[in-house]
Amino acid sequence: MPIVPPIKSQGIKTKLVKWIASNIEDVKYERWVEPFMGTGVVGFNIQPKKALMCDSNPHLIKFYNGIKNKEITSTKVNKFLTDEGAKLLKSEGEYYYEVRNRFNDKGSSLDFLFLSRSCFNGMMRFNKKGGFNVPFCKKPNRFAQALVTKITNQVKNISQVIELGDFTFKHQDFKTTLAEINHSDLVYSDPPYIGRHVDYFDSWSEEEEIILHEKIVSSNATYILSTWLNNKYRTNEYVFSIWKDSFITTKEHFYHVGAKESNRNSVNEALVSNVNLKNSIFTREMDTKIKNGDVQLTTAKVES
Ligand SMILES: C[S@@+](CC[C@H](N)C(=O)[O-])C[C@H]1O[C@@H](n2cnc3c(N)ncnc32)[C@H](O)[C@@H]1O
Repeated sequence: MPIVPPIKSQGIKTKLVKWIASNIEDVKYERWVEPFMGTGVVGFNIQPKKALMCDSNPHLIKFYNGIKNKEITSTKVNKFLTDEGAKLLKSEGEYYYEVRNRFNDKGSSLDFLFLSRSCFNGMMRFNKKGGFNVPFCKKPNRFAQALVTKITNQVKNISQVIELGDFTFKHQDFKTTLAEINHSDLVYSDPPYIGRHVDYFDSWSEEEEIILHEKIVSSNATYILSTWLNNKYRTNEYVFSIWKDSFITTKEHFYHVGAKESNRNSVNEALVSNVNLKNSIFTREMDTKIKNGDVQLTTAKVES
């Protein structure tokens, strides 16, 4: 079982960490660097001795720095969610919006956790002014004892991982992070998909992907990029243009849209790297494979 972080987000890589970890087993590096840490699930499962974890979303960084400096402890989280959960239940759910306003005013990390675990579908989305704007999941009894215990344990597990390693969390743009890297780092990048999100802290363009590529390559660090390769409708052509001189390895990932079994889609997830990962081939060979209609890319499947 992977270590699951207490914060949720739509782009979370929980189902892929085992595969990612197996691909870097033999890669040697001194420091793990994530310019786009998100929930941090990848780095927290890799458990490097030394790590630099960054994101443009200040709330994520504040939350993990709070765990690191023990302002946020599992005991505090347990009491907070029990007390606030009781208010949520009593108000028949209306209290969610009070917490959301309070968070958008003051930015407390405990309120951030409360919202992340009681909003619709565990989504993370901010409006043009940087305000969290996801609606309530409509379950007034959301923070029942079992969930509070689960989240408390997740906070405990993450704080143990942070305590065992030398973790630095920084709120900064990826360009600043990439200006701090060197040849002995392993840089794991999981940027937003190009054109997919329009969010205050989370949008991504072709220009930014080009800068990411240029800065990583010129640093001589080992890099691994998480991205998608194709689904039954589309292929991510950036893999063959921007990342044309790299290796690629893929895995088929199934996900459900809605509750129906028939709404089951698959996407080929990819790891693109300057080192020869397990089962990897050159991106240009993959380009040829796809053009020839050969999409038998993966051996195992991941369900989510
Ligand atoms: C796909 S998510 C990362 C998911 C993460 N690997 C996980 O499993 O939780 C992309 C992250 O990039 C961050 N981000 C977007 N634009 C950024 C930028 N210009 N600089 C740094 N981080 C950025 C977003 O806030 C988001 O957390």
